This record gives sequence, structure tokens and C-alpha cells, in this order.
Amino acid sequence: MRVLVTGVAGYLGSHAARSLLLAGCERVVGVDSMVRGHRGALRALQGLAGGSGRFAAEVLDVRDRPRLTDLLRREGVGMAWHFAGLTQVGESVAQPDAYWGANVEGTESLLAALEAAEVPHLVFSSSAAVYGTPRELPLAETSPLAPVNPYGVTKLEAERRIQAWAEAGGRAGQGGRRAALLRYFNVAGAAPDGSLGEDHRPETHLVPSALQVALGARRGLEVLGSDYPTPDGTCVRDYVHVDDLMEAHLVAMRWLARPGLPSGVHPTEGDAARTRDADIHSRAWNVGVGHAFSVLEVLDACRRVTGHAIPHTLAPRREGDPARLVADASRIHRELGWQPRHTTLDSMVASAWHWMRRHPNGYPPSP
Ligand SMILES: NC(=O)c1ccc[n+]([C@@H]2O[C@H](COP(=O)([O-])OP(=O)(O)OC[C@H]3O[C@@H](n4cnc5c(N)ncnc54)[C@H](O)[C@@H]3O)[C@@H](O)[C@H]2O)c1
Repeated sequence: MRVLVTGVAGYLGSHAARSLLLAGCERVVGVDSMVRGHRGALRALQGLAGGSGRFAAEVLDVRDRPRLTDLLRREGVGMAWHFAGLTQVGESVAQPDAYWGANVEGTESLLAALEAAEVPHLVFSSSAAVYGTPRELPLAETSPLAPVNPYGVTKLEAERRIQAWAEAGGRAGQGGRRAALLRYFNVAGAAPDGSLGEDHRPETHLVPSALQVALGARRGLEVLGSDYPTPDGTCVRDYVHVDDLMEAHLVAMRWLARPGLPSGVHPTEGDAARTRDADIHSRAWNVGVGHAFSVLEVLDACRRVTGHAIPHTLAPRREGDPARLVADASRIHRELGWQPRHTTLDSMVASAWHWMRRHPNGYPPSP
């Protein structure tokens, strides 16, 4: 199978390409506009593929439908993993149109290209942001979908367009279209060999930000909110290791490629119509560990792993941050047999720290 990975030069896209190569995928065809991507990640992937010709990457915006269609046809791609997009909540509030363009129009363009090139299967990087402020915890796939910022709105709209694309494509169990919508909670960690890691600029994610403090590259951190109704007053989030997240993609990929019902799917939870026969076109799965850690617990894990204090100050809450986000990940466990291997913060932080010590300035600037 030849797999298209969009956003391949970013944090998750690069780890996805690595996982596909290690899993024996025939060829990974990556695209990235390089608006946020790193040439260093592409070089690491070329190194992993060696001279095998199993990895190729093109600078391409997914909104360039003609070029994307041509690439899919030329490469004989059988499935797409779609990571490309803009990802920062705060930025999405300031620039909602840019987020709509990258995340919704980008997805729409990809869907049109998949249709034109007759590529039937798609795994989509969705987000817990589609749920908004939880009314119930843990969050199940059937929880209300009510995003509270433009980023979440664009992820939900992309999900809806993907569902419509899949349903328009004939009987799913008979060679028609299928899509897996993976709703990630917080992702952390890096490839265990230190070849790939997390390098967002600016970095807004907690683990790499705290590790930059440990490294001396950042002075300290502001903890946004210390008066939440949580045990230590700081926000609580569900973290999944990037390797476990990629394993979830691999099990979803097997589901997409297999005709008929996934074992363990029961026609319950309001989607009976779709699960009635072997004709499920799209399915959402939460990817989280199912238990969560506070900001202060994460900082403590960073201190333990690195041996460095993480100085921080307590600052006011940021608007729109829910106190707790915890995944009910039982559906993906039950239906696809996925289970995280890394369940401690320390193992996630240790792999991120390994990468950061090898790359104290992140990926080198592009030549
Ligand atoms: N990192 C997380 O914790 C997290 C959590 C939930 C969901 N997600 C989703 O996972 C995906 C990847 O996130 P990430 O953390 O790797 O972000 P990232 O910014 O590291 O990677 C995104 C990549 O997409 C590329 N890109 C952006 N717009 C593009 C376009 N129009 N055409 C082609 N390439 C384009 C960027 O250059 C970048 O390399 C996103 O869709 C995000 O919404 C991430």
C-alpha cells in the first residue's frame, strides 16, 4: 500500500511517516506547504528510508487540487493520512479566516483530489477541540460537539465534510469510501531514537515548553490559571505518547482496508443506521489514555526526568480553557483493540527530552 501523508514535515506528520516506514508500508508519499514544517524532519525520514525509495516528499499546499490529484495518480496512492493544517487555538481566534482556509478548504481540496484519483480511504487528525467545554467527563465520541474557538470549529467542519465524502462514495463494505476520524487529546513525546521531535514555532505545548526551560532556552513558564476546581487548581489534560497515537493510526488503517464490520462494533450509541450492516463509512474514535494530569504534575515530571527545576509563575486563566479534558477511549480499545503502551508522564517526557538534548535549537534552519 502507498500512503499519502499530508503535513509530513510537521510534528505528527513526520512521526506518522516514520511509523508507516517501520510498519513496512510500501511507499510513503509526503506533502507539506512548509508553512510550519521542517526540512530537518524530511531529511531524517529520507535517512530512515535509506536508498530504498520508500519515502518521497513534495512541497505542496493541499489546496492545490490539480497538483495533488496528479501526485495521487502518479504515485498510485491507496490511502491518505491527513495532518496538514494550522493548529494553534490562540492564533485561530486572531486569524479565523486563515484557519478556515487551511483546515476546511484544505480538507475539501484533499477530498476532491481523493475522489478524482479514486483513493477510497482516509485517516483524519481530528481533535478533542471538537467537543468544546465538556458537559460530562470523560468525553465519549457521543458527547455533544460544541467547539468554543475557531480552531475547533474548523476541525468539526472538516470532520463533517469527510463524513459526507465517505457516504457519497458507494457501499463502504464493497470497495466504497471509508474514513477514520481520530480525535486526539494532548500529544507528547518523540521518536525513541531521537531523530524526530516536536518543534512548533512559537511553541505553545506544555511539555516542550517546560523542557526548553530545563534546557535553559526559556526563562520560565506562566501557568495559566491556578484556581480551577481541580486537586491542585491547575488545568488537567489527557496525554498520549506520539508513538501510541501512531499505533492508533495503524489500527485504523487496518480497519479502513478491511471490508465489513470491525469486530466489536455494536449498533448502539445513536449511530445504529451506520452500523446496521457492513456499511460503515466513517467512524470517530477518541485517542487518549483515559486518565489525566495537571499542569503542575507535568512540570514535576519534567523536573524529575531532566533533573532541572522548572521555574514558573501562576498567572490568570486563559479564556476558553476547560478545567478538565479526559478521554473515554473505550471505543477504540473495544473496536480496534488499541491500547496505549506509555501511560506515565515520565516515559512521554523522557523521549521528548532525549530529542531536545540532541536538538537544543530544534530542527536546523532550512538551507
Ligand atoms: N499536536 C497535537 O497535540 C494535536 C492535538 C490534536 C490534533 N492535532 C492535529 O494534528 C495535526 C498535526 O498537528 P501537528 O502538531 O503535527 O502540527 P504541525 O504544525 O507540527 O504540523 C502541521 C503541518 O501541516 C503543514 N501545513 C499547514 N497547512 C498546510 C497546507 N495547506 N498544505 C500542506 N501542508 C500544510 C505545516 O507546514 C506543518 O508542517 C493537525 O491537523 C492538528 O489539528 C494535533
